[in-house]
Amino acid sequence: MSDRPADPCTIVILGGAGDLAKRKLVPALYEVARGGLLSPSTAIVGLARSAGTDGSWRDAVRASVMEFAPAGTFDEAAWGAFAGRLFFHQGDFLSPETYAALQSRLWAIEAERGLPGNRLYYLAIPPSGIAGAVRNLGGGGLVRRGEERPWTRLVVEKPFGHDLASARALNDEIAGTFDERQVFRIDHYLGKETTQNILVFRLGNGLFEPLWNRRYVDHVQITVAESIGVEGRGRFFEEAGILRDIIQNHAMQLLCLVAMEPPVAFEPNAVRDEKVKVLRSIRPQTPEEILRDTVRGQYGPGALEGQPVAGYRQEPNVAADSGRETYAAWKLQVENWRWAGVPFYLRAGKRMPKRVTEIAIAFKTPPIAFFRRMGVTHQDQNVLILRIQPDEGIALRFGAKRPGAEMRIEPVKMDFHYSEFFGSKSADAYERLLVDAIHGDSTLFGRRDEVEAAWEQVTAILDTWGDVPPFDLPNYAAGTWGPEAAVALMARDARAWRRP
Ligand code: BG6
Repeated sequence: MSDRPADPCTIVILGGAGDLAKRKLVPALYEVARGGLLSPSTAIVGLARSAGTDGSWRDAVRASVMEFAPAGTFDEAAWGAFAGRLFFHQGDFLSPETYAALQSRLWAIEAERGLPGNRLYYLAIPPSGIAGAVRNLGGGGLVRRGEERPWTRLVVEKPFGHDLASARALNDEIAGTFDERQVFRIDHYLGKETTQNILVFRLGNGLFEPLWNRRYVDHVQITVAESIGVEGRGRFFEEAGILRDIIQNHAMQLLCLVAMEPPVAFEPNAVRDEKVKVLRSIRPQTPEEILRDTVRGQYGPGALEGQPVAGYRQEPNVAADSGRETYAAWKLQVENWRWAGVPFYLRAGKRMPKRVTEIAIAFKTPPIAFFRRMGVTHQDQNVLILRIQPDEGIALRFGAKRPGAEMRIEPVKMDFHYSEFFGSKSADAYERLLVDAIHGDSTLFGRRDEVEAAWEQVTAILDTWGDVPPFDLPNYAAGTWGPEAAVALMARDARAWRRP
């Protein structure tokens, strides 16, 4: 995080009483304030439809900070200082009248605290409300378009649209009110330390960058596995599915960071230019290829850690005959000079045996099976594993001679764990991203063309899937690594998914 002093500003959370605000935003803001990364006068204003006062909102925020801030970080002195920054304003974010009153309230707060009028609007609201809220912010005169100072910025949460057309429409709507450089599209995976470390690992070490290409890499596997199910978000998931919820954003962002060319500078547009190139290099697939190279799965009843768990169709607000996918796998090709011929396999799933996000780079085996005359007929590939979470770290698997008279090669592992080396738990992704937005640094946020390029790829899959409804769902039991078809997808290429 930047150690420049942060601009004093007013952070307005639309959806201030919602789940995201409660679980993620206010605990992150508390931590950021506790760490001295907010200007002393910065105010945080929650806008919500439900009745409330500054006092009742402070009580609610206190409860969420106690519940969701990292263990052991709550202290009364820090809380007292933080509580003084919190203000509540009641209003419906979809109603234009709300915004005139909100503007007067913000002016009053800014006058009282000597704030210069920098505004960060955080849309922690359902996707269907984003366009309306943006229009109302503009219509109500709450946006200083393009101005350097005092600045206005907009932070938008995912899901950003539900296909290419809706993402474009939303981007058009936002562009009617904000300049692109004022818009910060959040993908919280980019705020994770281990995600940021991908580029550091690649570009800060002489050992690996020379190997990072089709000459040495056999294939890449990107896994985003979660043991949780849909956690009361049945209604949302019925509309979204895992392709939209995880692959289109988190998994494709990881893909970009692994596959991109070194940017000309570590600066927002240079980094994002290279990411967009990766997305545009993904080879378009025909519907037949999509059906061959993707897998849809849905969990049925099963067990996790010995406890029975319900199937997706038994979750609240899920149709009894739902065709929605809770697992997706996708084999794609990044068709550029660096990666031609190297398949990338992406998979994401709910109710997997464990929570793990990792990127595995499998290297080609040596050109000669040198030890074959000594009985070594098979040699494992060397694999580099970037563990994004939860056991953050990097591991390198290679072969070593098993001690003894016989020639036997066994896979062994060099393993780096963040927790062992750096000790303290790293900042939550939201803390990092909030600080960056306040500083106006959009390196870790999605640019318009980037989000649309990802949707373009994913929309092709959604269209094909829409035309050919799945017939075999549910096709994996909760607590297993996904459907047989996903195993077969790899087996066809004489490969296998890792069992992290
Ligand atoms: C969110 C998805 O974006 O990411 C959720 O909507 C998912 O479905 C979550 O559970 C995973 O985030 P993390 O940081 O726990 O890996």
